[in-house]
Amino acid sequence: MSKFEQPIDRLGTNSVKWDTILQMYHEKELLPLWIADMDFKAPAGVLQAYQKLLDHGILGYADTPEGLYTAIIDWEKKHHCLTLEKDDILFFSGVLAGIATAVQAFTQPNDAILIHDPVYPPFSTIITTNQRQLIRSSLIEKNGRFEMDFADIEEKFKQHKVKVMILCNPHNPGGRVWLKDELLQLGELCRKYKVLIFSDEIHQDLVFAPNKMTSFFEAGENFSDFSLQFTSMTKTFNLAGIKNSIVLVKNEQLRKQLVHKQEQNFQQEINTFGLVGMEAAYNTGEEWLAELLPYIQSNIEYTMLFFKEHLPNVRIMNPEGTYLLWLDFSEYKLSDEKLEERLVHGGKVVLNAGISYGPSGKQHMRLNVACPQATLAEGLKRIANALK
Ligand SMILES: Cc1ncc(COP(=O)(O)O)c(C=O)c1O
Repeated sequence: MSKFEQPIDRLGTNSVKWDTILQMYHEKELLPLWIADMDFKAPAGVLQAYQKLLDHGILGYADTPEGLYTAIIDWEKKHHCLTLEKDDILFFSGVLAGIATAVQAFTQPNDAILIHDPVYPPFSTIITTNQRQLIRSSLIEKNGRFEMDFADIEEKFKQHKVKVMILCNPHNPGGRVWLKDELLQLGELCRKYKVLIFSDEIHQDLVFAPNKMTSFFEAGENFSDFSLQFTSMTKTFNLAGIKNSIVLVKNEQLRKQLVHKQEQNFQQEINTFGLVGMEAAYNTGEEWLAELLPYIQSNIEYTMLFFKEHLPNVRIMNPEGTYLLWLDFSEYKLSDEKLEERLVHGGKVVLNAGISYGPSGKQHMRLNVACPQATLAEGLKRIANALK
């Protein structure tokens, strides 16, 4: 039996996924298949590293260990063909904290920032809460997967004098693992119109063969001159709560500007648990990840089959990466409110409302399949019940 089959009770642990939904919906016994964390225990090597820290018992200020730089450099080389130097790596307390700081470092109020529609909701929140202008380019759905609309992106770059594009690579919620050619085409447009790319690569390790992750830096010549990559091991190894991430920045001028803003906000100190967990995950988590990916894939296959048999009117995108599925419920002709109400109060199952990902997410939902298959099976049954 796979270790991922083991159900673990998360109720009463202050879990956003499991515990906050009671206050959100005032409904008991909800099954959460939303928010992007997994119902799986972290790799043993990470838990052992924490145990060692706790056994020592002192949790004073911690410096970034040299071994952590080496662990990141080795991981990125081996898994993503990226050649990094120690200086290329900056630490932040989360990918979103890094992106928000970069928005402040490289743009001014009212500057235009482009994102896809649909895309991970906090991108638009960061843009609007920092009083930047939110510009969206809709992804085109072709043969059941998203493609970028390069003509539209170019038009918007020109028309709005876009300063930055925040890219989600791989794409959440569509599960696209952007091809090198697609990134090359996008990057050449950015070079032409002097647009900086912030490439959020937090899902970089959750990619299913034969699909291949291409880091934005690697997609074209000197792309690191006008881009920053944001990533973390927290998605890969289910450590989201330790709030730790890295920004990869090779260009010296860009690095200086980002570090300046980071220091202005006094964000350069990283908590001990982040440092310890990150190093242990990169050094010891490989085997765990090798077991995880086929488990997630079998959950995806199970879900695709379930929908085909029981809910053929829901259109699903088969993801090339991530453990997230984008579901189109538009055939049911329900409003977004009604759809959510049916699922939550009729089916007692919680998914992410698609509309929060952008206007094209209307009548869609995002489903997280990173849980034991028995839990998933129950959740899918509840979705089917809700739509009866
Ligand atoms: C694309 C993407 N970026 C960033 C995050 C959040 O990262 P962090 O918790 O490190 O801020 C998530 C979490 O789901 C995500 O899917």
